[in-house]
Amino acid sequence: MNVDILLGLQWGDEGKGKIVDHLAGKYDIIARFQGGPNAGHTLVIDGVKTVLHTVPSGIMHERPVNVIGNGVVIDPVTLKKEIENILSKGIDVNKRLLISKKAHLIVPTHKILDAASEAAKGQNKIGSTLRGITPTYMDKTGRNGLRIGDILSSDFKSLYDKIKEKHLNLLKIYDFEYSLAEFEKPWFEAIEFIKSLNLIDSEYYLNDALSKGKNILAEGAQGTMLDIDFGTYPYVTSSNTISSGACNGLGIPPTKIKEVIGITKAYCTRVGTGPFPTELNNETGELIRKVGNEFGATTGRPRRTGWIDLPALRYSMMINGVTQIAITKSDILNDFEVIEACTDYEVNGKVSQEIPYDMCNTEIKPVYHKLCGWKTDLRNFTAYEDLPETFLGYLTFLEEYLKTDISMISTGPEREKLLFKKTLESVS
Ligand code: GDP
Ligand code: IMO
Ligand code: MG
Repeated sequence: MNVDILLGLQWGDEGKGKIVDHLAGKYDIIARFQGGPNAGHTLVIDGVKTVLHTVPSGIMHERPVNVIGNGVVIDPVTLKKEIENILSKGIDVNKRLLISKKAHLIVPTHKILDAASEAAKGQNKIGSTLRGITPTYMDKTGRNGLRIGDILSSDFKSLYDKIKEKHLNLLKIYDFEYSLAEFEKPWFEAIEFIKSLNLIDSEYYLNDALSKGKNILAEGAQGTMLDIDFGTYPYVTSSNTISSGACNGLGIPPTKIKEVIGITKAYCTRVGTGPFPTELNNETGELIRKVGNEFGATTGRPRRTGWIDLPALRYSMMINGVTQIAITKSDILNDFEVIEACTDYEVNGKVSQEIPYDMCNTEIKPVYHKLCGWKTDLRNFTAYEDLPETFLGYLTFLEEYLKTDISMISTGPEREKLLFKKTLESVS
């Protein structure tokens, strides 16, 4: 059958995990296609919070099989911990989880290189999650990487030693102290654990499933504005977070893609360094952070906050070919008298709805449109058509600007808090 893709339209943390978890029961397969343990996807089920980093967000359901695709980079230690945590909830993970043999491995020296490179950048640091993501993708494209399938080789230790030696030589250019021994023991223990999981040729598995009429939901990590090609370069992650990344990261043909569901918050956040035109370094920004509990699910860092950025959203929608939008965290603005939305960028006195080439060194003045707040607790609503007029007016304003329907409205972190616009109830 088809593949639907669900991905972030902003700088990550849009609530992808929550929406995937809600939709997962409708799909046969949930597949992660890029990123790695830099991601933190939060699910709240029956009051219990689970944060997933590498495992797809369909894992808490009976029905779908969860696939970690070839485009993902895997830290065995994080994955082991994550699986043990899910096992402790009584879920037989091994029955529900398949891992691509072509997914690349994060080795301990990748993490050290990440930290050394960030430290060397000083004030210009990217604000990496320090999970070793960039060095691992560098080794992948540099054709030096280790892949999950390699752990089954009798030669694995020498393959590991080879890449480690290369990294130790590279580390000599940095003035950076590190201790490798403490990371290696748990890493090799985790490798033994991963050997007991289902390691497969996932491109065959997924295409075979499609030909048998199964449906797949591809789960993105990070967000479009962190994409290696189209994000706010160089303040980005090292993978293609956009819809085309699902083809590369899973080995599925573009002709199989049906819906592209783009997620946005009702406002905007960013964690780490880099351009953020609508950032609010004031009391309003502080209030959004406090009410929205805007602290990173992976690193715990405070997230930067600001108003929704419509030129950036429109750009993201264009790149991804978004067919429907899901909006999250509108409930965080419940008590706001006025809500603002950036409709244009003013650059050197010129007003435009386009993203400038160099967002990092261009002074962007956001032009805002003010809207009336709804001053109602959205968490209490159970049907789209009952939502307050003012809030529906806000949604219509966004839909008209973005020329796309907002089909899902998330009104709280909990799994069940998701309202569907009647006409678009079916996602696949
Ligand atoms: P992801 O990386 O895109 O999966 O998002 P994160 O899990 O990093 O961050 C989203 C945060 O918002 C998590 O704490 C979620 O539990 C929470 N969340 C998701 N949707 C909503 C919503 O509609 N309202 C509220 N209040 N919280 C939400
Ligand atoms: P999810 O999937 C938000 C950010 C980091 C940093 C930049 C590069 O939970 O939405 P990296 O470790 O990838 O080299 O960091 O990207 N970043 C994220 N921000 N959500 C994420 O994932 C992120 N993954 C990476 O903060 O600015
Ligand atoms: Mg997150």
